[in-house]
Amino acid sequence: MKISVLNDVALQSKNGAEARVAATPDTVSGYIKSGHDVSVVKGAGAKADFADRLYEDAGAKIASTNAAAVKAADLVLSVSGGTEKLVSGMKAGSGITGILSPTDNPKYAAACAKAGVTAYALDYIPRISRAQSMDVLSSQSNLSGYRSVVEAGGIYGRAFPMMMTAAGTIAPAKLFVMGVGVAGLQAIATARRLGAVTTATDVRPATKEQVASLGAKFIAVENEEFKAAETAGGYAKQMSAEYQALQAELTASHIAKQDIVITTALIPGRDAPVLVSKAMLDTMRPGSVLVDLAVERGGNVEGAKPGEIVTTSNGVHIVGHLNWPSRMAADASNMFARNIKNFLPLVTAEDGAYAPDWEDEIIQGCALTRDGEVVHERLK
Ligand code: NAI
Repeated sequence: MKISVLNDVALQSKNGAEARVAATPDTVSGYIKSGHDVSVVKGAGAKADFADRLYEDAGAKIASTNAAAVKAADLVLSVSGGTEKLVSGMKAGSGITGILSPTDNPKYAAACAKAGVTAYALDYIPRISRAQSMDVLSSQSNLSGYRSVVEAGGIYGRAFPMMMTAAGTIAPAKLFVMGVGVAGLQAIATARRLGAVTTATDVRPATKEQVASLGAKFIAVENEEFKAAETAGGYAKQMSAEYQALQAELTASHIAKQDIVITTALIPGRDAPVLVSKAMLDTMRPGSVLVDLAVERGGNVEGAKPGEIVTTSNGVHIVGHLNWPSRMAADASNMFARNIKNFLPLVTAEDGAYAPDWEDEIIQGCALTRDGEVVHERLK
């Protein structure tokens, strides 16, 4: 099949500048060895440390623009999914991949249907064991969790580990992780490696053991509602007002003693829950740092601003960076590209032609459009 790798960096993104690329010279080399024909748009990997020359050495052709590259492609590999205009220039019967946030962007699926293009929302790949190697949400959240702690450390005017020196003793930083999904777990692991005294909270009971296994202390309101807070899909439920009040009380007393707070709490299909109020921020000591990884979905911290670092009147910094994986674009692209490489067999026939396996539950779970129609149940 003819594969084109988009230059996502050149596209406008609502969620902060994109620096990732959906294929690396390594995965491109594999595609070419498998008999595929690969074009990479000029500059596609530049921000992820993959120069055009490396793709050429791997056997790819370099296309001048995104519009030129998508015209003849059977499958377009992309991080963002490109734009409605771009997909309208694709050939009917082709496909495109990306993190598509489909319910936020229904016009995009409609444009794909109109063009006869199948859009594969990698963010909708079912979280079943067989699909773990294709799970872009996990591969990218893991890096976001790591990076959130590293960036907090860069802003924090003190050290993370305890240091006993001739000039005196430095107390270890106290770090609190709110929301222990994939990003939160990696944030805990990173904080522990750096020597912070780490605590964490979540509403899903399964996280209690996971937090303990990473050597951190678990803190939560563990009532009857907590025991039933996980959906069959493994996600958090929206908690009741009563639970939220109890959680806020617990958070308020704990947060006043924390130096760094990393928030990652999300509920599928809803705005992120506000877990840290302005009143709580006022109790923190100057120089404390909060990183709100949920800022793209409304934020867990009151006053967090997308794309900005806000400093409160009492000197507390709230970091609202967008697109965290792009802050480590080389590794994020490596992982993203491998996720796509693992996905590719599901859209490839034995002879190497582009042919999605519509019987496969992974394809059914992530394909938004088919034969000119929007087919995904979440978009109907
Ligand atoms: P997410 O990004 O949707 O949410 C992050 C975390 O915030 C979750 O742990 C959630 O419980 C927590 N949260 C929500 N509301 C909260 C509140 N009010 N207070 C405190 N915490 C709150 O989660 P992510 O990272 O996508 O993981 C979701 C689930 O998927 C987990 O159960 C994870 O183990 C599972 N998973 C399964 C995989 C598989 O292949 N089987 C792969 C990756 C994740």
